Amino acid sequence: MSIAILFNQKDPLVWMKQLKEKLPEEKIEIYPAIENKDEVEFLLTWKPHQGYVNEFKNLKVVQSVGAGIDHLLHTPIPESIKVTRIVDPALKQDMFEHVLMCIMASMKNTMLYYNDQLNRSWLPKSYQSIHSTTITILGMGEIGKFVAVQLKNLGFQVQGWSNSPKKIDGILTFAGRDALFDSVRTGDFIVNILPLTEETKELLSHSLFQQMANQPVLINVGRGGHMKDEDLVTALDNGLLKAAYLDVFHQEPLEIDHPFWTHPNIYITPHIASITNPDTAIDLVIENYKRFKSNNELQHVVDLKRGY
Ligand code: GLV
Repeated sequence: MSIAILFNQKDPLVWMKQLKEKLPEEKIEIYPAIENKDEVEFLLTWKPHQGYVNEFKNLKVVQSVGAGIDHLLHTPIPESIKVTRIVDPALKQDMFEHVLMCIMASMKNTMLYYNDQLNRSWLPKSYQSIHSTTITILGMGEIGKFVAVQLKNLGFQVQGWSNSPKKIDGILTFAGRDALFDSVRTGDFIVNILPLTEETKELLSHSLFQQMANQPVLINVGRGGHMKDEDLVTALDNGLLKAAYLDVFHQEPLEIDHPFWTHPNIYITPHIASITNPDTAIDLVIENYKRFKSNNELQHVVDLKRGY
């Protein structure tokens, strides 16, 4: 049996080095340099190509190196294969820090002042304060819930929407499709941290933007597939939304001629909100590998029917 690393848009060498150090007995290879694909039972992967599972006929575990697994699902995965994901405290903290950066930059006009500086313009603007700011988090899974609680602890009013009901002290929660519109009505910031599934695809579209009564700022750190791009541009142009901070896109890197690049109220980061750090995540991968080898239950197994 062997372990294969199959990465696109991520450097496999640092993972390889750590795995070799911590699992010195195992055969570990980086795709496409795999001696015998039939030996591969454990695949560590990020954004694999179409058809990847079919190349390894004895594959038993697909371990995503991200929190999300949507990047694996373009190819049907047989039920005999377990799919697992990374749940790492460092990922949650990083996501919180990124979301907080976007919120504070917007509340205190950071980007606007930067533009003013380029023009040598002295233009004081009104600013928002934490105690009077309401944030709606869409997606109250491991990461969303953590971000929500941290923001609440800072003094923001926080509300959260998720598919299934959640009860969290001091946070107003909404559950199910019927409650979605209510959850965004009063938010000054709408933060999307949902997993991408058939149900959540293009959820960030005109029908939802229309419900947002406070001309909020939208922060998308979920997936590009959550967004109907043309609806976002219309909502910004019509004043339904004040601005958008986007970290994820349908196509990454974002196409060079995409209208988001030049929109005055869109702020782009290149999918860096929260990146799996091998130093902290490697132990989880190794733990799962050891569990797999000793026939024990794996951690953070994904329900493929739900998609998260
Ligand atoms: C990043 O987007 C991840 O899924 O971890």
